[in-house]
Amino acid sequence: MSRIVVSFVALCAAMAAGASELSDSQRAAIEERIKPMGEVCLQGDASCGGAAAVGGAAMARSGEEVYNAACMACHMTGAGGAPVVGDATVWADRIAKGMDVLHDHGINGIPGTGMIAKGGCMSCSDEEVMAEIGRAHV
Ligand code: HEC
Repeated sequence: MSRIVVSFVALCAAMAAGASELSDSQRAAIEERIKPMGEVCLQGDASCGGAAAVGGAAMARSGEEVYNAACMACHMTGAGGAPVVGDATVWADRIAKGMDVLHDHGINGIPGTGMIAKGGCMSCSDEEVMAEIGRAHV
């Protein structure tokens, strides 16, 4: 048993010695290789692009992009009874319910119908879905 302990201690010592033999450039190279894929950058911290975080919010998908990616499949064709975009008659009653209702239904869906929450675009933010509804349906 003690021999195992001794060899373990020896192994640790050898590893420690090995680690201390790294040159600064080797150490930097290793740190570069094992660094995290992404780094948290707080808004306002200019040293890491924090200022750009404000621009990040502006990079939200436009209503048109959301429509093309997540809504068009049903709302261009009327699939599953979806009101077709551009058909004023099918939208009149819906628009009459008010934008709050339309936003709620776009974001949360309408249970029991083909209108699933965010049209299934779970990566879409509420704001992006609302931008799309405001653009296309009124
Ligand atoms: C899988 C098909 C499908 C997709 C994808 C889809 N919709 Fe719908 N949508 C429907 C159907 C069906 C209805 C009608 C539901 C009903 O009232 O019976 C509907 C209705 C709506 C309404 C009217 C709600 C109301 O209160 O009358 C809005 C607004 C709407 N969709 C927005 C969107 C937006 C925004 C997207 C994309 C992010 C989207 N939909 C994607 C099928 C879809």
